[in-house]
Amino acid sequence: MIDNAVLQAIRDRRSIRKYDPAPLSAEQLDALVEAALAAPTARDRQLWHFSFVTDPAVIAAVSDAGLETLRKNGDQASLDRLAQRGGGLFYEAPLVVFLSFPDDGYRGLDCGIAAENLALAAQSMGLGSCIIAMARFAFDGDRGAELSRLVGFPEGHSFVIAVAVGAPATTKEAHPRHPEKVAFVGPRG
Ligand SMILES: Cc1cc2nc3c(=O)[nH]c(=O)nc-3n(C[C@H](O)[C@H](O)[C@H](O)COP(=O)(O)O)c2cc1C
Repeated sequence: MIDNAVLQAIRDRRSIRKYDPAPLSAEQLDALVEAALAAPTARDRQLWHFSFVTDPAVIAAVSDAGLETLRKNGDQASLDRLAQRGGGLFYEAPLVVFLSFPDDGYRGLDCGIAAENLALAAQSMGLGSCIIAMARFAFDGDRGAELSRLVGFPEGHSFVIAVAVGAPATTKEAHPRHPEKVAFVGPRG
């Protein structure tokens, strides 16, 4: 069976929802920046922007605004699920990368690929990560414009996805694999 460091990182990555709040080193942050910027994009346009937020007060402000929107929307199921996982949107991670993009058809794909680059790079360094779409409740809410400025989205960009990263303070089972979701058309080897 073929095995190597990349396949191991892909296999072992989990969505981590509890972190050691200790800050990441400059070296770790540099490696994550490199991984983000190495992501492929449609027509190599590289329209994404990555806000690497390590200021706990800013991370908390985005989380609080998201929870506020959920309360306003009466989304008790989401609030209950988050309460079971510690209460906030970002699980006390010392780094949250916010990916923003202009209004463009490839925003989801380009940011999704970059988010997975970040998650796999984190895994390869012994760090955990969680891709977090629920942050949209912060940027879609009443304070969206103010928060977009706070995390430094460029003019004309809006939030797409966030990735929390930090030293994991928990473990998690792999999600179930479903080989029946794969079809071969033609010889298999
Ligand atoms: C596009 C996307 C959005 C996600 N949003 C959230 C989120 O807002 N909060 C969260 O805790 N996990 C979120 N996740 C993590 C998924 O719940 C997780 O990937 C899934 O349960 C499989 O578990 P695994 O990542 O450990 O394999 C998201 C994952 C993806 C790909």
